[in-house]
Amino acid sequence: MSKPKILIARAVFPEVVARLEEYFEVESNQADETWSKAELAARLRDKAGAFTTGGDRIDAGVLAVCPGLKICANMAVGYNNFDLDAMTAAGVLATNAPDVLTETTADFGFALMMATARRITESEHYLRAGQWTKWRYDMFSGSDIHGATLGILGMGRIGQGIAKRGALGFGMKVIYHNRSRLDAALEAECQASYVSKEELLKTADHLVLVLPYSPASHHAIGAAELALMKPTATLVNIARGGIVDDAALAAALKDKRIAAAGLDVFEGEPLVHPDLLDVPNVVLTPHIASATIPTRLAMANLAADNLIAFFTGKKPLTPLNPAVLAIK
Ligand code: GLV
Repeated sequence: MSKPKILIARAVFPEVVARLEEYFEVESNQADETWSKAELAARLRDKAGAFTTGGDRIDAGVLAVCPGLKICANMAVGYNNFDLDAMTAAGVLATNAPDVLTETTADFGFALMMATARRITESEHYLRAGQWTKWRYDMFSGSDIHGATLGILGMGRIGQGIAKRGALGFGMKVIYHNRSRLDAALEAECQASYVSKEELLKTADHLVLVLPYSPASHHAIGAAELALMKPTATLVNIARGGIVDDAALAAALKDKRIAAAGLDVFEGEPLVHPDLLDVPNVVLTPHIASATIPTRLAMANLAADNLIAFFTGKKPLTPLNPAVLAIK
């Protein structure tokens, strides 16, 4: 019997490609070429499955020319590259890669917050540029993490991981805002108190964004929200580009309306708003929050597991639109 055809849209661990080749006829992009949307659609035209990453857009336009497509397995927890309604309407299963990246991503969020508050990259640039000629009492003085108020917007698994690091490891007071409040046991485990978004913005010394992107969270942090924050506060975005209005943030950083920001995700990435590149009080990283080899391998294997389960008649592990399975 012939194997189902799948497309691996981006370069991925060779051992994961080899694993998939046991089950599928695989076309893979190990050269990591940048494909236009039209090229992705053309390559998907004869495929039954797709292994995608967060940059591969699957929407009605793509689905219209891929009638044989049955499943897209995302190697990412976020799935705003999927038009889930269009996929469901087309009977295409979507899966993501949650859980396996939670602790690694929470580590990174905490690291970015610390680097931002303690001005680590800014001071390194100064040193590398040969500008360090003598020590000064207030040189690159930042703000404390220990004992400060940690605000978290979006209290899913990664937000909870950051809360625990702050409360248990650094004695921080943790406040959060989320679409729905955690149950009392989980709040106690995270030592976190629920507050309104306005109170979160006004009270946090360090605000970390971990909410999913959707039209409802577009520019959840814009000029009006930044204006509510303390002038000494820091802002970290490890969620998704578009949740922060990057132009408004660059203006707030330039005018020192907040102290500093740490950004791992950007509107329109890999492009970065030019004004952000011009301000010193921002730490910039290229969407690497889950980037450790064990975690990225676990994410790739979870996407592969979903494809294998689906085509071997088992239940996919992390379906996003399970209604599609019921219809089949
Ligand atoms: C990374 O941003 C992910 O969604 O996994």
